[in-house]
Amino acid sequence: MYLGIDLGTSGVKALLIDGDQRIVGSASGAMDVSRPQPGWSEQDPADWIRATEDAIAGLKSAHPAELSAVKGIGLSGHMHGATLLDNEDQVLRPCILWNDTRSAAQAALLDADPQFRALTGNIVFPGFTAPKLVWVAENEPDIFSRVRWVLLPKDYLRLWLTGEHISEMSDSAGTSWLDTGKRAWSGSLLAATGLQERQMPSLVEGTEAGGTLKTNLAARWGMGPGVVVAGGAGDNAASACGMGTVGEGHAFVSLGTSGVLFAANASYLPNPQSAVHAFCHALPNTWHQMGVILSATDALNWHAGITGKSAADLTKELGDTLKAPSGVTFLPYLSGERTPHNDAAIRGVYAGLGHESSRVVLTQAVVEGVSFALRDSLEALRAAGTSLSRVTAIGGGSRSRYWLKSIATALDIPVDVPADGDFGAAFGAARLGLVASTGTDPLAVFTAPATAETVHPEPALSSAYEDAYQRYRRLYPAIRDAY
Ligand code: XUL
Repeated sequence: MYLGIDLGTSGVKALLIDGDQRIVGSASGAMDVSRPQPGWSEQDPADWIRATEDAIAGLKSAHPAELSAVKGIGLSGHMHGATLLDNEDQVLRPCILWNDTRSAAQAALLDADPQFRALTGNIVFPGFTAPKLVWVAENEPDIFSRVRWVLLPKDYLRLWLTGEHISEMSDSAGTSWLDTGKRAWSGSLLAATGLQERQMPSLVEGTEAGGTLKTNLAARWGMGPGVVVAGGAGDNAASACGMGTVGEGHAFVSLGTSGVLFAANASYLPNPQSAVHAFCHALPNTWHQMGVILSATDALNWHAGITGKSAADLTKELGDTLKAPSGVTFLPYLSGERTPHNDAAIRGVYAGLGHESSRVVLTQAVVEGVSFALRDSLEALRAAGTSLSRVTAIGGGSRSRYWLKSIATALDIPVDVPADGDFGAAFGAARLGLVASTGTDPLAVFTAPATAETVHPEPALSSAYEDAYQRYRRLYPAIRDAY
């Protein structure tokens, strides 16, 4: 048995698979994000442990025998968070998350230093880890002076599980301190933010072992000694392992809290000017590109909060038949945007409202706005040399057929829907646990799920969608200049 643990933004999911990669069961534990100031987004790492304990307790009560047979664990987590520890591994402040934009000024300064783009292959985005440390140094110098370790969120879970300070390449590529081509920490990038390599965890590949489960936890969950904890991956690379998105030309679109258009690459293909992320993959000698939008289901959940309806009820109200865009346009920049704008200050907008703009019309605009934001990412990937002929959809938002049709039409490529099952980050993490503990060839394990159906672009609506996308494109510079 192998256990995948995915530390998501809204909860932890633990998923058990057997040696044939059949899902035995899964359980989750919930968590909140705290937003103490506009643009801030934090979590208490103690909540990650509590939610992980809850998830594993859920598995233990439903599948005690299978849980006790676990031989390998894989970790996945939301990326870029700054978890700061003192020399006794005590957490110094709440973790500053991936969608926190407080360090925009610090990020812009680092980004203006040419070595960052040259070595990391990426823009220094405000959500990345390095500018957060500069913000802490400037605003909380006492805390900065006590920082002994900087860990990414899932690597803090690893510390709790194994007692070791270890990370892996895919998540570390999102810090702005990794030389992404060489897959090694860059001493000069760390020095530019007042840090040293000794404050960073040691690095393994995602498919390699990265620690052994502590005996007290193994005993609590009924497991034997020597349970291997894999390097694991950032949540997007972990999802890619779950979806078999590991070979050139394979791509997925993820509709989670954030939205991601992810393409696997056989080589390292940085293109920071298009605001595409170029990161290490979880497999050795493999990289990937992705466009990232900060609010995908997060935008629909915001609209759900305002209307007092659940996100599922809102998408149900849209029906299954794709409609032409109504003329109301929504820009989903609730936390600013990464691809393609790299703009932490921009905020969302509804444009074109009329008396007839009902709740359903606004829901449709939110769904379309996220689809158009993903079209922006498709264009950014094209500019970075990667053109996609189809994508597979994952994430909570992909349960809405309307949303899938809207994405297929906005991107003008077919969207494959995997056969029933769970192929997300927790499954990918479990696969990484299997590979690390058995030494099986990752390519033999990271296979693609069967396609249940393919959602095609709606040809009758393609020109209406194109017009609406062009309107969407024109709004960003207009609202940026208005504020
Ligand atoms: C990727 C990113 C998000 C988080 C959240 O760069 O910031 O996708 O990993 O899950």
